[in-house]
This record gives sequence, structure tokens and C-alpha cells, in this order.
Amino acid sequence: MQRIKTIKDMRALSRGLMSEKKSIGFVPTMGALHEGHLSLVRRSKEENDITVVSIFVNPIQFGLKEDFNKYPRDIDGDLKKLSSLNVDFVFIPEIRKMYPDGFSININIGGIGDIFCGAVRLGHFNGVATVVAKLFNIVMPHRVYFGQKDFQQTVIIKKLVRELNFDIDIIVCPTVREADGLAMSSRNSYLSPTERKSASILYRALKHGEGLILQGKQDASYVKTEIEKILNSEPLISIEYIGIVKPQRLESVEIIDSPVVICLAVRIGTTRLIDNLPVSP
Ligand code: PAF
Repeated sequence: MQRIKTIKDMRALSRGLMSEKKSIGFVPTMGALHEGHLSLVRRSKEENDITVVSIFVNPIQFGLKEDFNKYPRDIDGDLKKLSSLNVDFVFIPEIRKMYPDGFSININIGGIGDIFCGAVRLGHFNGVATVVAKLFNIVMPHRVYFGQKDFQQTVIIKKLVRELNFDIDIIVCPTVREADGLAMSSRNSYLSPTERKSASILYRALKHGEGLILQGKQDASYVKTEIEKILNSEPLISIEYIGIVKPQRLESVEIIDSPVVICLAVRIGTTRLIDNLPVSP
């Protein structure tokens, strides 16, 4: 496994691979890797000649009061995990090279970035779109792998690729869960043991919603209220949003008569957790 630190080296490497007609799979990450990330890496290895993983905690996707400084970082642990999977290249750019003095471009993703998570994390998705576009231009991958766990992010990145004409396939892989159903996330490490226990209710609430839809309940506000009751039974949880949306464009539905995604965000103490479940009635 080779570690690449500069944008120039990464581009040269990708150009070389392309001239050799090698397919490049790419897994962009912010590090603190867990099984969810590793499942993306495995999928990329299956489907491409070469797999590149980037580790970059992107400052412009964090709000001023968010957790950029305390975001978990474990480069040594990450490198061990990636090398055990025989990843070909790990790209770890420096912040000042990604955002040199005077950098001012920010991709505005539009209204889809201002709802659900974007309503609370102002500017977050513009920051994600900007770094992802930069990484795509540097790594020049054929296929890029994202987790379903960050559902809104996947919808926005597909829009970015479509509207800015990146010649890249976006592959969304299933959420990887702990034994009690909690979606794996680097931020789970913030939870105290008591908070961690209560976090399993997110998946139970989503499964309850799924059960109601599969029983034929079509009224989205009824299903949301039932999910809300389950979440509210856990005193440590405060609900940020519960949505039932169409998978492609995140439009909220009133009547559930075609595939939807149930998505939610909560706070447990100071930790914000998101999760979602696709359901086909
Ligand atoms: O999902 C993440 O880890 C980040 O949002 C991403 C896509 C690596 C961009 O910084």
C-alpha cells in the first residue's frame, strides 16, 4: 500500500493508471475508519483494478460550532486497516494544499442542501460537494463508493455528478450495523456507555416504521407519529427530524404508495446521530 501526500503525485499516479487502462475505484473518507468504510473498500476492490482511499477531515463541511477539532482521528489505525485489505493507494492531502490562501469557491448545491440535515448544519452539504468535486478532479476515479447511512449526502453527490457532468459512477452500499442495529459511524465513539445503549432505539424505531408500511399503512404522518412515540420513549433522545421521502429527490411524501426512505436525526446528549431505512411497500 502506497501513501500519497500531494495532489501532484495523486494526479500523476491516476494519469498513469488511466494510460494503462486500469479502472480506479475510490472511497473518500474522513478517517476514523470502521466496518462501514471497510465494506466500501471491499466492494471497490471487487469491482476495480485499483482502489484509492482518501483520508481528509474536510474543514469546510463543519459549522463554526461543530466538531471539526474533536472529530476522531486515528491515522495509524486507519493505515493498518487499509493495508490489511490490500488497498493500493491512500491519499492524505494537507489542508493548506486543498485550501490554499485565497481559496474562495464553494459549490452551492441548492435547496436540497438546506433541508433535513442541511437545515441544522448550514452550509454543510456545499462543503461536502466542494471537497468531493475537488477529490474527483484529483483522483479521477471511474467508480466512487458511499454508504447509504449518509443518505442525503448520496442524493446530493449523485446530483453533483449529474449536473457537473463528472464521468463517474456513484455506488451506494448498504449501511453496516452493530449487533443491536446501531448504524456504524465515526461519531458513535462520542457516546457514553449509557448513551450508546439508548442509541439502539434508532434502528428499532426505523424497523417499526418499516413494519407499519409493510402492513399497508400509507399515511406518512401516522407512520412518523408512531416512530416519534418510540424515539420519545427513550429519555436521553431528542428528535431533530423524522422524514419519509422519495429516494431520488428527497421529496417528502404524504401517501406511501411507492418506495420511500424513512430518515431521521436525533441528539443523544451532545452527539448527533442520523440513520435511515429504504422501504418498498
Ligand atoms: O462521508 C464523509 O465521510 C464525508 O462527507 C466525505 C464524503 C468524505 C467528504 O468529506
